[in-house]
Amino acid sequence: MRALIATAEGPRMSAVADPVPGPDAALVEVRHASANHGEVRHTAVLPAGSVMGYDAAGVVVGQAADGSGPPVGTRVVAFGMGAWAERAAFPTGSLAAVPPGADLAEAATLPLAGLTALRTVRAAGPLLGRRLLITGASGGVGHFAVQLARRAGAYVIASVGAPGRAEGLRELGADEVVVGLDGVRPVDAVLELVGGPHLVRCWELLRPGGGLQSIGWASGEPAVLSPGWSFSLGPARSLHSFGNVSTPGPDLELLVGMLVAGTLSTRVAWRGSWERIGEAADALLGRRLSGKIVMDIVPDVDGDAPSR
Ligand SMILES: NC(=O)c1ccc[n+]([C@@H]2O[C@H](COP(=O)([O-])OP(=O)(O)OC[C@H]3O[C@@H](n4cnc5c(N)ncnc54)[C@H](OP(=O)(O)O)[C@@H]3O)[C@@H](O)[C@H]2O)c1
Repeated sequence: MRALIATAEGPRMSAVADPVPGPDAALVEVRHASANHGEVRHTAVLPAGSVMGYDAAGVVVGQAADGSGPPVGTRVVAFGMGAWAERAAFPTGSLAAVPPGADLAEAATLPLAGLTALRTVRAAGPLLGRRLLITGASGGVGHFAVQLARRAGAYVIASVGAPGRAEGLRELGADEVVVGLDGVRPVDAVLELVGGPHLVRCWELLRPGGGLQSIGWASGEPAVLSPGWSFSLGPARSLHSFGNVSTPGPDLELLVGMLVAGTLSTRVAWRGSWERIGEAADALLGRRLSGKIVMDIVPDVDGDAPSR
């Protein structure tokens, strides 16, 4: 089969052996996949030749041998390594069914970005009436986080890098959209996706008792901490890491349900053949995309015509 593999120069199309599913894994014919910031940015650190990607949507062509999970023919969205391939094996705990009528290409955008947004909004604790700042809000995780935080009752402040990057964020639920962090008043919680000086500034904006989740480092810049940076009077502030993608199935099901119900929307910023991954990656890392990438592996097979 064909797959996008990791090389020192970036993702490359190659012929590889078909995956061999473990007893608890389903074999999925992948129709659409999504590419995330971390995958395209850090390709060179992956083992050379490994099949890339984590986000896939397609159709089950082999049910798990242990009888778990959906039967052959079920449309699914899945999270797991090796997603950028014509066929991929996913543990059944990493799948969710995509109901008929729901757009499979849109579902492909949900796994990494949606799970990250969902789990970090949850980890921020009760948000009703609390001020939540989201940095890098114009990106894939940011778009989902703005919607989910608003839904959780937060007063959402979305920070972007330039005025043109703010488009649509108010409609998605941001109460304020700010360029950079100047003028932002203290907040109760932060979802921080940019790193470097943003991380330092966000910590300074955190009220006593608040929590900052350091999710990403899109800027690639170092964070320089002044002596005494962490000190504050009153209830302790906390800094959290994030990397929890365990047992994604139930949360994927929740995200698919919200997509189908129209209470969560995905912004597809780039869509095209997976053979054009280099172009999509350049646009994402060059901050020319605002939202998610959808790669068509098998275009138009289920009536979801690609917009090329
Ligand atoms: N911990 C985890 O498990 C986890 C999971 C998912 C993602 N992440 C990380 O979270 C970050 C965001 O992910 P994403 O998928 O939302 O990425 P994305 O779609 O590329 O969005 C990142 C946003 O960061 C902003 N940014 C600020 N400075 C930047 C710079 N120098 N270069 C590029 N972007 C810059 C950009 O917004 P403006 O142009 O408006 O400034 C961009 O829209 C990435 O670092 C990713 O690796 C971590």
